[in-house]
Amino acid sequence: MTKPLGIAADHAGLELKSVLSAELEKRGISVRDFGTTTSASCDYPDFAHAVGRAIEGGEIERAILICGTGVGMSISANRHAAVRAVVCSEPLSARMARQHNDANVLCIGARVVGTGTAIDIVDAFLGATFEGGRHAARVAKINLA
Ligand code: RB5
Repeated sequence: MTKPLGIAADHAGLELKSVLSAELEKRGISVRDFGTTTSASCDYPDFAHAVGRAIEGGEIERAILICGTGVGMSISANRHAAVRAVVCSEPLSARMARQHNDANVLCIGARVVGTGTAIDIVDAFLGATFEGGRHAARVAKINLA
């Protein structure tokens, strides 16, 4: 990855965001944090849209979004045509989402998975490559004209 990896969370995902950011930095991955930065209650779409706009603008290519379940973040991020966001609770789906769906945003539920599993999910997502070929034709059909 040549561009930094985006990361964002709402209040429910704040703690996991800190843990994952530290893990990513340990792996030499540069991270751009889009918030939130405090435990005050906030609205997940604000952060999902900030990340979606950054992907559309070419500032980042991939991102991790964390909320309580990952669901609100994924619904919001997928409103951006350039975003293919997936919510994953185990590593296999995260790997396949990269290999077959060219997913560019990984959403995680901080109230769903423990820290160790979240790290494994992130490693699976970042370690996998889009396979192209027949999958490219399918991915090209995702967005409505
Ligand atoms: C916040 O309580 C919670 O609704 C949010 O983090 C997320 O799980 C929404 O999908």
